[in-house]
Amino acid sequence: MIASAELRDLDFEKISRLVYDLCGINLHDGKKELVRARLGKRLREGGFRSFSEYYRHVTTEEGREELIAMIDSVSTNLTYFFREESHFRRLRQVIQTMGGTDSKKREALRIWSAGCSSGEEPYSLAITAMESLDGRTARDVRILATDISTRVVRKAVSGMYPKEKFQKVPTDLIRKYFQYGCGQWEGYYRVRKEIRDLVTFSRFNLMDPFPPDFQFNFIFCRNVMIYFDKKTQEMLVNKFYHCLREDGYFFVGHSESLTGLSHPFKYIEPSVYRR
Ligand SMILES: C[S@@+](CC[C@H](N)C(=O)[O-])C[C@H]1O[C@@H](n2cnc3c(N)ncnc32)[C@H](O)[C@@H]1O
Repeated sequence: MIASAELRDLDFEKISRLVYDLCGINLHDGKKELVRARLGKRLREGGFRSFSEYYRHVTTEEGREELIAMIDSVSTNLTYFFREESHFRRLRQVIQTMGGTDSKKREALRIWSAGCSSGEEPYSLAITAMESLDGRTARDVRILATDISTRVVRKAVSGMYPKEKFQKVPTDLIRKYFQYGCGQWEGYYRVRKEIRDLVTFSRFNLMDPFPPDFQFNFIFCRNVMIYFDKKTQEMLVNKFYHCLREDGYFFVGHSESLTGLSHPFKYIEPSVYRR
């Protein structure tokens, strides 16, 4: 085992190329320190002597599992409940105006949280949908939540979060949609089953072709494309367009925009677009 391996430019280039080809994440020169720190840990844990040995391993068939772990460790998973709150207000307002009040006329609602990280985003969407429907469940609400990282998807499925994560969540929503743990789960809240049941989690790489049954009213791909270069963003945004239903909405992160990309979306307001 080694204390700290040197990350040579050539190895950094090879690793960045591999990550880019696999999942579109752009590890430019400014990310070299991040790669050295995060993958250095994997090297030590796996007993690899150098980054080139590690690279050789993750590009073999036996190294597939480590390859997934490598992607997990270079991706940034920061997220929280009701992040960028204005999007949830907008979602609520749109849902309430869709199809009027006659439940028979309302079409089933499909939402995709693309790059869902540990689940706070899709659960916030599910809670917003339930609140917008005034507690009526007649209408079919289905949320697909996907991420490339197996680690975060596993966490999301459990629906279990430490109480510190709830500082900005209104108390009435906590009471209504979360259950406080006891015993070994003291200090944690779990998303209630009726909300968990609305969300389907799956590992999915946004670089892969989208299945033909991907048809949504709303797509949230927030704080994901910032890690991609322009070419990848443009390709992805156009793929999203084609799996939105007529008049469907597309949300990106508050610090993101589609400016400078060629796309057919209508601009609604900063970070919100429409098919
Ligand atoms: C910063 S988090 C954003 C989470 C959430 N959308 C939000 O705004 O709070 C970015 C997520 O994108 C995921 N991601 C990065 N590249 C991806 C890809 N090619 N396919 C799917 N997910 C990806 C990462 O694993 C990470 O969990």
